[in-house]
Amino acid sequence: MFHSAGRARREHDTTTIPNISALAVLQGVSKTFGSGDTAVHALARFDLTIAAGELLVVLGPSGSGKTTLLNVVGGIEAPTTGSISVDGRALTGLDAKGMAALRRESLSFVYQFFNLVPTLTAYENIAVLAELTGGAVRFRVERVLAEVGLAECANRFPAELSGGQQQRVAIARALVNRPRLMLCDEPTGALDLDTGRTVLTLLQRLCHRDDRAVVLVTHNQAIAAIADRVLRMRSGDIVDDVQHSTPLAASEVSW
Ligand SMILES: Nc1ncnc2c1ncn2[C@@H]1O[C@H](COP(=O)(O)OP(=O)(O)OP(=O)(O)O)[C@@H](O)[C@H]1O
Ligand SMILES: [Mg+2]
Repeated sequence: MFHSAGRARREHDTTTIPNISALAVLQGVSKTFGSGDTAVHALARFDLTIAAGELLVVLGPSGSGKTTLLNVVGGIEAPTTGSISVDGRALTGLDAKGMAALRRESLSFVYQFFNLVPTLTAYENIAVLAELTGGAVRFRVERVLAEVGLAECANRFPAELSGGQQQRVAIARALVNRPRLMLCDEPTGALDLDTGRTVLTLLQRLCHRDDRAVVLVTHNQAIAAIADRVLRMRSGDIVDDVQHSTPLAASEVSW
């Protein structure tokens, strides 16, 4: 459900999109790097709507445009054509300040190699982001650490944590500002099966219990079984888009 501040914003916002359960809407989106003979068409022109509560797995060979898709949805890259709305706001209409606010409030990223700051503890890695949105930093950081099962590890440095624990800190960091859309690029790529399952269980629960959307890019076909929806990409195009009515529980996934 949208919280009341979100509703208020929508009522005064001329860029509001009609379908409030859509967290991201892409229309006619393409992305070309370079020009002329050396142009790379990373995304062909396509339309995509990502719904609240949806765990969307994106599969496709290397170079098919998966990371580019996350980057345009996350506002890191501007699309060459088309329009993108995230959480009711049109990215193309936003100035740098508006984009920063959207990234802070509505979106977060999780990467394959965690990207934790090695000289900061688990607590501090998360607090850095929590401080961007103000108050109750200690409470919020402790709550997300508990949510990912790492309350006891708050004062450890990344090098003192296992790979799976580091990824859970990265997920806690991505969660601390309660974003509605999480963009994850190979979040289990560096993890073994057991820790991968723990991380996927967390992401699946966030979608289903908290009505957020997670876009999870992976090369691992087995992970598709836990998705509510699976997109397959090839050469910048969506070549397949399948819904699962009863996705596998992430705790049961195997590879
Ligand atoms: N900044 C850039 N400049 C030029 N070309 C780029 C840039 N970023 C991506 N590309 C190209 O766009 C295409 C799509 O790249 P992208 O990183 O989205 O693929 P991917 O599906 O994430 O691949 P992988 O599975 O290897 O991570 C590739 O041909 C890539 O070389
Ligand atoms: Mg990639």
